[in-house]
Amino acid sequence: MDLGLQGRVAVIMGGTSGVGLKTAEMFLAEGAKVAICGRSAERMESAQTQLLSFGEKADIFASTCDVTSKSDVDSFINGTAERFGGIDILVNAAGQSVMGHFFDITDEQWEEQIQLKFFAIIYAVRASHPHLLKRGGGRIININATLAKEPERHMIATAAARAGLLNLSKTLSQELAFDNILVNSVSLGLIRTDQWERRRLKNAPDMDPEEYYGDLAKKRNIPLGRVGEAEEVASVIVFLASDKASYVAGSTIETAGAIGKAL
Ligand SMILES: NC(=O)c1ccc[n+]([C@@H]2O[C@H](COP(=O)([O-])OP(=O)(O)OC[C@H]3O[C@@H](n4cnc5c(N)ncnc54)[C@H](OP(=O)(O)O)[C@@H]3O)[C@@H](O)[C@H]2O)c1
Repeated sequence: MDLGLQGRVAVIMGGTSGVGLKTAEMFLAEGAKVAICGRSAERMESAQTQLLSFGEKADIFASTCDVTSKSDVDSFINGTAERFGGIDILVNAAGQSVMGHFFDITDEQWEEQIQLKFFAIIYAVRASHPHLLKRGGGRIININATLAKEPERHMIATAAARAGLLNLSKTLSQELAFDNILVNSVSLGLIRTDQWERRRLKNAPDMDPEEYYGDLAKKRNIPLGRVGEAEEVASVIVFLASDKASYVAGSTIETAGAIGKAL
């Protein structure tokens, strides 16, 4: 199936690991050009090397950028447009969650979550909008979490920020539809990425990884009976960016193995 992504330019905020990196691999395999960013130069270099197995060096742009810094985001996005001659797709995939109940979470952690889940998206959408307009439209895909609709007490700050992002994405989808920019969300449950690997290595370093993720799926009552893989999310993102999703806007695709009960 031709997804129509040949020659398109995709910017992936937080594409140096996990879901973002898998998405970059898939875009390259479809003939798109990709730009990835993250804070760690070391992670960025290793991601860049990994991406060379999926596409040409000339089709990969990588730069360090903190998505919570407006000036970093502006220079990364403008730099991508300059390098590739435009931008067609923006994927907001940067971030991680913070665990803790209401009285555990500091003001700094609240601020960090709001910066990461809210302002980072505002900065990236603002910076990429003129470039998408020049192409006659485009796609914006915001990675979210099932927590946005089904908060959990031990993740109060992340859940509250996620709910805000879900609302923001919906309104953006309506406003930007007039510019032929289709905005959608992908809502994740538990996906095996570096974020979870860091937790596993901290909490159960000697446990067999398959057993660890099997237990996690049972504990969290995932109806599909397993934790998801990054490529299972990446394929949904790539579909939303493709010509095959030309009338999908304002939607949230749950990619969570049927976890949760919210409608
Ligand atoms: N995995 C899950 O189960 C799950 C569930 C629900 C939602 N999500 C969401 O899915 C998205 C991707 O997560 P993942 O699981 O793929 O995590 P991951 O493997 O830890 O990757 C996160 C990526 O975001 C980058 N990042 C984090 N903070 C950043 C910042 N301030 N500025 C720039 N880049 C930043 C990281 O690079 P640096 O650290 O080098 O900056 C990395 O490239 C996140 O928004 C996450 O909250 C994941």
